[in-house]
Formats: sequence, C-alpha cells, structure tokens
Amino acid sequence: MSRHLSLIDNFIINADRALRTLAAGSDMTCERPSPALPLDEADLDDSERRHAAALMRVNHTGEVCAQALYQGQALTAKLPQVRNEMEHAAEEEIDHLVWCQERIDALGSHTSYLNPVWYGLSFAIGAGAGLVSDKISLGFVAATEDQVCKHLQSHLQQLPVTDLRSRAVVEQMLADEARHADMALSAGGYNFPASVKGIMTLVSKAMTQTSYYI
Ligand SMILES: [Fe+2]
Ligand SMILES: [Fe+2]
Repeated sequence: MSRHLSLIDNFIINADRALRTLAAGSDMTCERPSPALPLDEADLDDSERRHAAALMRVNHTGEVCAQALYQGQALTAKLPQVRNEMEHAAEEEIDHLVWCQERIDALGSHTSYLNPVWYGLSFAIGAGAGLVSDKISLGFVAATEDQVCKHLQSHLQQLPVTDLRSRAVVEQMLADEARHADMALSAGGYNFPASVKGIMTLVSKAMTQTSYYI
C-alpha cells in the first residue's frame, strides 16, 4: 500500500514539476537574482532583438531539458554520495530557467512551442539512465553539461555585443554548467566514448535549430 502511494506521490510531484517548467509565466522562483539585473537594457534594432531572443529561447529549451533530465534521474538513480550536490545543481537549473524566461520576455518573444517534446525525451533519458546505473546517469549529466557549455560559448560569440543583460546571464550559466559537469564526473560519472557523444551532438543540434525558430 505504502509503495502504491509513493508511486502516486512521485507521479503527482513529477507532473507538477513538469507543468510548472513548461507553463508560460511559470510561478517558479530563482534563488539568485538574475545577473542581468544590475545592467542596463540595450537599445537593439529589430533584427538584433529577434536574434538575441532566439538564442535565449534555445538556452531556455536547454534548461527545460536540464529540469527534465534531473527530475527523471531523481526518480530512478540512487546517488547516495552526491544526492545533495545533484539537488543543488537542479536548483541552479531553476535559476537558469527563470533568467532565460525573463530575457525572452524582455526581448518581446516566446519560449519554444516544442518544449513539451524535449521535456518528455529528456525525462525518459534521465530516468532510463538512472535505472541502468548511477555511473551512467552521472555520465549523462556530465556529457549533457559539456554540450550545453559549447552552446553557451558559441552564443557568447553570436549575441549582440551591446546586449549586456543576455550576455551576463549566459556567462553565469556557463560557469555553473561547467561546475555541474565537473561534479558529475568527479562523482564517478562514466566518460562516454566519442560515438555516444556524437549522437548527443546530433540530438542537441536538432533541439537548438528548431528552438531558434519555433
Ligand atoms: Fe542550466
Ligand atoms: Fe547545469
């Protein structure tokens, strides 16, 4: 009976988290204020603003995936030594999600319509990897964070130089994601072979290219 209840509890908790992650104007709150706050809003022309918003939409979708990956993993992985660190990382991902949403709103655009698809896929990967082993599960976090760092670095090249607010958000995310990757690897995460990383690169290209437009 108690196992039955805990399954239902888990389902409700995960469904609630998924809906809050995906809801426009979500009530999620960040622990740290956005790094954009102390900076002035740039005076961008239309094409710069559209480009910056599209890049921040890609980053937002990445954070939706991070939420789903961590939630799926929390459901199935054991992670006795690093559960606290993983929970802390998941909280930092909420900061990123909120900061990106704020930038998209300020730039007058919308989050990706495909976010529910990417959430479902990432949740399944997170939960599936956690079922196999903690080593694989942590390996997935490390490989994903590496991938995200590469995107963030390329976005720093592409964002308008005057959009200091978006740039500050991306810079803080880059520092946080690199720390998450290190943590997952030093906790025993499997370092995936290049072939697996190549597949992940293809999937993430599909995500970034679609989120840029829709
Ligand atoms: Fe993140
Ligand atoms: Fe991260």
